[in-house]
Amino acid sequence: MPSFQTSPGTRDILPPQAGRWRAFSAQFADIVESAGYECIIPPMFEDLGVFLRLGDATDVVTKEMYDFEDKGGRRIALRPEHTAGICRAFAQHRPTTPWKVWYSGSNFRYEKAQAGRFRQFDQVGIEVLGSTDPLLDVEVIAMGWQFFESLGLKNVVLMVNSLGDLADRAAYIEALRQYLESRSDELSDEAKATLQRNPLRVLDSKRAQDKPVVIGAPTIAEFLSDEARAHFSTVIAGLDALKIPYTINAGLVRGLDYYQRTVFEFVSTSLDSAQTAVGGGGRYDGLVEDLGGPATPGVGFALGIDRTLLACDSEEVFNMGSPEIDAFIVDVVDGMSALRLSDELRAAGFTVDRAYDGRSMKSQMKVADRSGARVAIIIGPDEAESGNCTVRNLMTSDQSIVVQAELVTHLASIVGERNPRRNTQ
Ligand code: HAM
Repeated sequence: MPSFQTSPGTRDILPPQAGRWRAFSAQFADIVESAGYECIIPPMFEDLGVFLRLGDATDVVTKEMYDFEDKGGRRIALRPEHTAGICRAFAQHRPTTPWKVWYSGSNFRYEKAQAGRFRQFDQVGIEVLGSTDPLLDVEVIAMGWQFFESLGLKNVVLMVNSLGDLADRAAYIEALRQYLESRSDELSDEAKATLQRNPLRVLDSKRAQDKPVVIGAPTIAEFLSDEARAHFSTVIAGLDALKIPYTINAGLVRGLDYYQRTVFEFVSTSLDSAQTAVGGGGRYDGLVEDLGGPATPGVGFALGIDRTLLACDSEEVFNMGSPEIDAFIVDVVDGMSALRLSDELRAAGFTVDRAYDGRSMKSQMKVADRSGARVAIIIGPDEAESGNCTVRNLMTSDQSIVVQAELVTHLASIVGERNPRRNTQ
């Protein structure tokens, strides 16, 4: 047993899995950049105050924050999500609106680690600041939907709801509190405790005992103002126009407090753990102002990379192995030809690996076979002497003697043309 292991709730993302993560973010970038979103990289830690805006009744703030005092006596927290930091950045830099940004990065929440729930987890997401247009909500939702489709996922469902404006929400929470209190003797002890902190979260209870009470609860729809209702109708009409299937879920309240009007969640029906939400988001029109900036509406979402890849595993899509190797160099002389030729071929755009430590021909050929390379380039004493090499196609076992100076052209004839990585002229 080694002296140290990863901390609970964290994992090493090893190769080739880590390559799949990179491809995931690249595919996300491709989709959202086609709609004008630009990459933003906010810091991983901020003043704790930035994240307190997520809600003093939320688990994220009360139980899960990784906060500490730094050596300068500042109260700091590792980001539990990206949205608040991006609103802080907007208030600080005042870019022109609408400001459309995307991100990919880690977040930290001190949660009970379990399948699909980690203490360090990654998200990709988008945020748009500066527009109240309900059709922007639709664009944002569509970006998430199209991305899941591009991964090949079939079993993702979209749930939408409206939480109304601040006053609607406050009136609803009060009515909900009164209702839940009137039936509190039927609730589980956990739900009773949640009711004291945040009545909305009781609607999320997965306990069978709480179900009958939750089913009979008043819904937010009854409390929406005319403006909020009209906004939600346009969102629904937009989803219909794009033929994006959805379910209106009156109980969808989300776990962060900054939402107003539209909220949505993407849920994978292929995940059998309790953690089936692969993404979520909504409108947060008051957040920038809360952080000391000008009153600015906002809307966005974040998708959990860890969980979405678990969904990909269970649907057997977006599989990815190790990167393919074009050529493997076997040098049984002194390794200098392997050093020079691998450098030259990599510069010409090929993917090239080689053996080290002056191993025998047999042992190097074994590594070449295991690497999955298309060809082996072999340099023995004769080849080194004559400036040639033996090129062996590892798929067909065809073999030919090639002048080293013509290797680039010869390799291209077997594996295809490549774009040079460096100019070596
Ligand atoms: P969230 O619902 O807290 O929203 O997280 C979004 C997604 O991140 C979840 O659906 C889930 O896939 C993933 N996730 C959250 N916590 C964990 C965890 N402990 N382990 C693994 N995956 C996790 C937000 O973070 C908002 N900032 C989304 C947003 C953006 N709203 C507006 N703009």
